[in-house]
Amino acid sequence: MILRYFIAALATILVDGTAARSLYGWGLESKIEVQNKISLQGVLNNIGPDGSLAPGAHAGIIIASPSTEDPNYFYTWTRDAGLTMKMIVDEFLHGKHDLRPYIQDYLKAQAILQTVSNPSGALSSGRGLGEPKFYANETRFNGDWGRPQRDGPALRATALITYARWLINSRNRDNIQEAVEKVWPVVQNDLNYVAQYWNDTTFDLWEEVLGSSFFTSAVQHRALVEGSALGKKLGADTEAYDSEAPNILCFLQTYWNGNYTVANVGIEQQRTGIDSNTILTSIATFDPEEGCDDALFQPCSHRSLANLKVYVDSFRTVYTINKKAKTGPVATGRYAEDVYYGGNPWYLTTLAVSEQLYDAIQQWSTVRSLTITDVDLAFWKSIYPSAKAGTYKPRDRQWNKLLDSVLEYADGFVNIALKYTPASGALAEQYSRENGTAVSARDLTWSYASFVTMRSARLSATSNYPQVPSWGAQTIKSVPKQCVASSAVGVYKPAIKAGAPPGSGQCTVMVTFDVNATTFYGENIYLSGNTTDLGNWRVFDAFAMSANEYTQERPLWTIDVELPANETIQYHYLRSQPNGTWIHETKNRTYTVPPCANVIGGNVTIDDAWVGPVGTPPK
Ligand SMILES: *[C@@H]1O[C@H](CO)[C@@H](O)[C@H](O)[C@H]1NC(C)=O
Ligand SMILES: *[C@@H]1O[C@H](CO)[C@@H](O)[C@H](O)[C@H]1NC(C)=O
Ligand SMILES: *[C@@H]1O[C@H](CO)[C@@H](O)[C@H](O)[C@H]1NC(C)=O
Ligand SMILES: *[C@@H]1O[C@H](CO)[C@@H](O)[C@H](O)[C@H]1NC(C)=O
Ligand SMILES: *[C@@H]1O[C@H](CO)[C@@H](O)[C@H](O)[C@H]1NC(C)=O
Ligand SMILES: *[C@@H]1O[C@H](CO)[C@@H](O)[C@H](O)[C@H]1NC(C)=O
Ligand SMILES: *[C@@H]1O[C@H](CO)[C@@H](O)[C@H](O)[C@H]1NC(C)=O
Ligand SMILES: *[C@@H]1O[C@H](CO)[C@@H](O)[C@H](O)[C@H]1NC(C)=O
Ligand SMILES: *[C@@H]1O[C@H](CO)[C@@H](O)[C@H](O)[C@H]1NC(C)=O
Ligand SMILES: *[C@@H]1O[C@H](CO)[C@@H](O)[C@H](O)[C@H]1NC(C)=O
Repeated sequence: MILRYFIAALATILVDGTAARSLYGWGLESKIEVQNKISLQGVLNNIGPDGSLAPGAHAGIIIASPSTEDPNYFYTWTRDAGLTMKMIVDEFLHGKHDLRPYIQDYLKAQAILQTVSNPSGALSSGRGLGEPKFYANETRFNGDWGRPQRDGPALRATALITYARWLINSRNRDNIQEAVEKVWPVVQNDLNYVAQYWNDTTFDLWEEVLGSSFFTSAVQHRALVEGSALGKKLGADTEAYDSEAPNILCFLQTYWNGNYTVANVGIEQQRTGIDSNTILTSIATFDPEEGCDDALFQPCSHRSLANLKVYVDSFRTVYTINKKAKTGPVATGRYAEDVYYGGNPWYLTTLAVSEQLYDAIQQWSTVRSLTITDVDLAFWKSIYPSAKAGTYKPRDRQWNKLLDSVLEYADGFVNIALKYTPASGALAEQYSRENGTAVSARDLTWSYASFVTMRSARLSATSNYPQVPSWGAQTIKSVPKQCVASSAVGVYKPAIKAGAPPGSGQCTVMVTFDVNATTFYGENIYLSGNTTDLGNWRVFDAFAMSANEYTQERPLWTIDVELPANETIQYHYLRSQPNGTWIHETKNRTYTVPPCANVIGGNVTIDDAWVGPVGTPPK
């Protein structure tokens, strides 16, 4: 790593070593240091059992936000928690040793959560790992949701693999034992999940779109690559990871449309696909030892820079606070068409733009080369009008000018996030498109985490501050010429030594409940029963069934539920009325799930017809 900015480096040493004051006084660096402390503490406040804003959250559970209404984010999302834990592990590696208990608590909490059966499924089939969120007390959430979300296991694996590599490299016996006996079994379940289900549809990271998500595919690919390397060190069988990773990489190429990266493919909705999904991907898969690789969409790649420009430009006229600025940094959000809470800029997406650029600066500095092509020329011209296609080296006059303009541009996005941060330093989810005041969930864990990772990336770009560890991107030699749809069926076991409950993770059977029930438009059918999997007869925990196959000839409502083999259940169906009332069947049914060995293909189907009164459509 080259010392690019000597002054900045000196400022960093002072800041890290003593008080939060840099050579620039209250310049950007010192503002960043102040906000960084608030942000790291903001994250820790949201982690059980002792986090001041997370009362009742179990040990190691990272809630998304303390907000319990409008919106209620008092849950733990596997994705948000995984990204946050990656930040914590990186900070730990950078010398914050007091963070280790948070990592160990997280590991235990995840070992438990992996075994909690949920509406996405159970551990024994792996499907349950794709559940997006749980209650903070480590119980299942039965409500309607966009599920499954297949990025969570990959992100959790990446955070834990980073920790496991540190444990192994420490050459300490207890640490190595921790990696082998506790971390790897949790990671292995997640990697098996990715290898088995990467080629199935998923909800995207915004929980809105069902199809294939660039972010999901990319983080899945990364997890398998680094998981395979770790597995080999531990003597594990990594064949499935080695065979599936190239297929994901091949598929990843299809998201590039020649001008920008399309966030979601294989979807029904009409969207431009210009989305912070892609910016967040480039920082989630950044490898400081990799060059500007287009196939891996690295931060400094032509594709990712071209994409960054298209993404940023999409917000110039949609937010009032951007004042139609034709050039320069602006506030950015998830995607321009967003309407959630009025569709505002988000702190974490604005900061992600700067982080991608800081990561890119690190990469150019490392490879000591910077190439501009037709693909990213428009990006360069927008920040450095006289930029021309060509290759530049550190000895060239243009080198510093190009990198300085990227740094200045990146800093501009941080300045915008800071400008709209209240004096307390509290980071909500969004800031108003009209006037920049905080909107939606307060103290969002991911907002805080994004500030910490941005700060670390900036220090690594401007000083000899350590970089985040490589995940082995350089070991990837090529993209397969032929993309293959594939899946490697995995085996899933509770990580008992890491904290999973003994006896959990038993064999389950996928039971398809089919019921013939004629309904009117606005009336829906639910399933309820006497076990935890079926919501313990609680109406608000009943399962919404699907009418996708409903026809005049066959008024079919259906749902797949994974149930423990040999279990006897009681259940009935419900009708929800447009006025909010419920009509119950007048019959409680009993059913015994067959033993796993008797189920061919893993599925059984129950064929029922509604028994009881029906609803009346409103006039
Ligand atoms: C877990 O938390 C949820 C939400 O607060 C609550 O409804 C549920 O009763 C709790 N379950 C247990 C077992 O404590
Ligand atoms: C599965 O992989 C094939 C080959 O890359 C691809 O065409 C298809 O869209 C993928 N489907 C999903 C849901 O990932
Ligand atoms: C890419 O941009 C060019 C130039 O604006 C345009 O002609 C082309 O249609 C775009 N392609 C896609 C897939 O958006
Ligand atoms: C800021 O704008 C939001 C709408 O985005 C509005 O609800 C709020 O009242 C405004 N606040 C101020 C201080 O103007
Ligand atoms: C549910 O009902 C069945 C049939 O009555 C019974 O055998 C089973 O023990 C019940 N399960 C629970 C969790 O109460
Ligand atoms: C079904 O069981 C539930 C829970 O025990 C009970 O409340 C309900 O009355 C029963 N329904 C019938 C039709 O027996
Ligand atoms: C289910 O029952 C079968 C036959 O009685 C038995 O062999 C099997 O071990 C049981 N499975 C579980 C998960 O209890
Ligand atoms: C079993 O059910 C799952 C979930 O609906 C489905 O993906 C799978 O194809 C089914 N398998 C068989 C053999 O029907
Ligand atoms: C549900 O409807 C289908 C199609 O009419 C029929 O084949 C099936 O027997 C019905 N199921 C029951 C339980 O009545
Ligand atoms: C709700 O609608 C149902 C008909 O679907 C009707 O029987 C019931 O009286 C209504 N309840 C209320 C509170 O309006």
